[in-house]
Amino acid sequence: MKLTAKQRAILSGKKGKGAAKAMEILAALGRIHGAADLVAVGSVQVSGVSYGNIGEHGLAFLEDWAAMGSKAVVPATMNPGGSDRRLWKSLGFSAAFVKKQERVIRALEGLGIRPSLTCTPYHVGVTPKLGEHVAWAESSAVCFANSVLGARTNREGGPSAIAAALAGVTPRHTLHTDEGRLPTRIVEVKCRVPTAADAGALGYLVGRLAASDQKGGVPFITGVTPPGGPERLTWLKALGAGMAASGSVGLYHLDCVTPEAVAQGSRLAKAAGQRSVVKDLAEGYRTLDRGAGKIDVVAVGCPHASPEDLTRILRLLNWKKAKLPFWIFVAEEVRRQAETDGVAASLGRCGATLVADTCIVVSPLQSLGIRTVATDSAKAAFYLPSHHGAAVYFGPLEQNVEAALRGSWQSS
Ligand code: F3S
Repeated sequence: MKLTAKQRAILSGKKGKGAAKAMEILAALGRIHGAADLVAVGSVQVSGVSYGNIGEHGLAFLEDWAAMGSKAVVPATMNPGGSDRRLWKSLGFSAAFVKKQERVIRALEGLGIRPSLTCTPYHVGVTPKLGEHVAWAESSAVCFANSVLGARTNREGGPSAIAAALAGVTPRHTLHTDEGRLPTRIVEVKCRVPTAADAGALGYLVGRLAASDQKGGVPFITGVTPPGGPERLTWLKALGAGMAASGSVGLYHLDCVTPEAVAQGSRLAKAAGQRSVVKDLAEGYRTLDRGAGKIDVVAVGCPHASPEDLTRILRLLNWKKAKLPFWIFVAEEVRRQAETDGVAASLGRCGATLVADTCIVVSPLQSLGIRTVATDSAKAAFYLPSHHGAAVYFGPLEQNVEAALRGSWQSS
């Protein structure tokens, strides 16, 4: 892989030890993936932020890197960590855990990464343009950036995203190239997909199909369109999050909807080697909706909720009071806005809590005494049983709000 003179200078330590380490990682990854060169990125999103996931080794790795003194040269944000920085005590997080989590955040801040602590950078002012190269790491954010925004990113690992932030470049391969963005499979959908939870269930099924495609699946989906209005983005987010979870899909094309499908739909569709049909969502719901017994928490906002989602939840609560803990995960910047607008206080009167900086999957659920979760997120329903041994009720937002208000899950 070719490095420019500037990149070779960084590699030799001219911009500091931390940047040299970054360039070393990027050059090695570029060689492994057969990249032609390193491409400049407009933004970076770093994962591996939760202390619960990275542990002592991860923390030491980040602190060592931060001690080298190099800083991000492009805007860089953080994925959710393991606890809410403001509400940790009232939510039941331990002081010892929060202390370690704060050290992770400080180390990343030392590397010049903004503590946005969200998987939805596009809700906090980072919205890449069509065709822009970025280096994002969180799977649902990667799928959203590539598919809905038409930006270009592979799914970075924690260290490779930090390296991209420090060097401002990433290896140009796979989803950074026109060829890597061609569909591998057409998926014809023959059923209605009205809600975001349905989109998540569809995403889960499509991800399972695409997982067997060579070089990582890129599905071209036909026969379905998202709802209009503010629910559109929530639906598209849920679709991508579901397939990123079950099939590591980093890009989908939705016929006549996503920008590359709109611009070159029939040319793209011709490239797909495989064809599948999804007749209904029953198998998705059967696998994801496996709750049993008393619900410990109703958790929505995976991926993190938008301001419009909060208004919708408030409407569904209709000034009634939740009987169960009802957590809505958001970016801290979205929570602050909701506090300013009065939406947070109204949700609070209905018994709902805006939880920021973390999420239901990356927080230490067992130590919070949470064993059974209700959610509208296919991604959360996919990971909670394996990561935390939790039982999960999965269904549309309306069903979750109803469960919070009644105190139990009503099967549809
Ligand atoms: Fe985001 Fe956590 Fe879900 S990182 S996509 S809220 S699993």
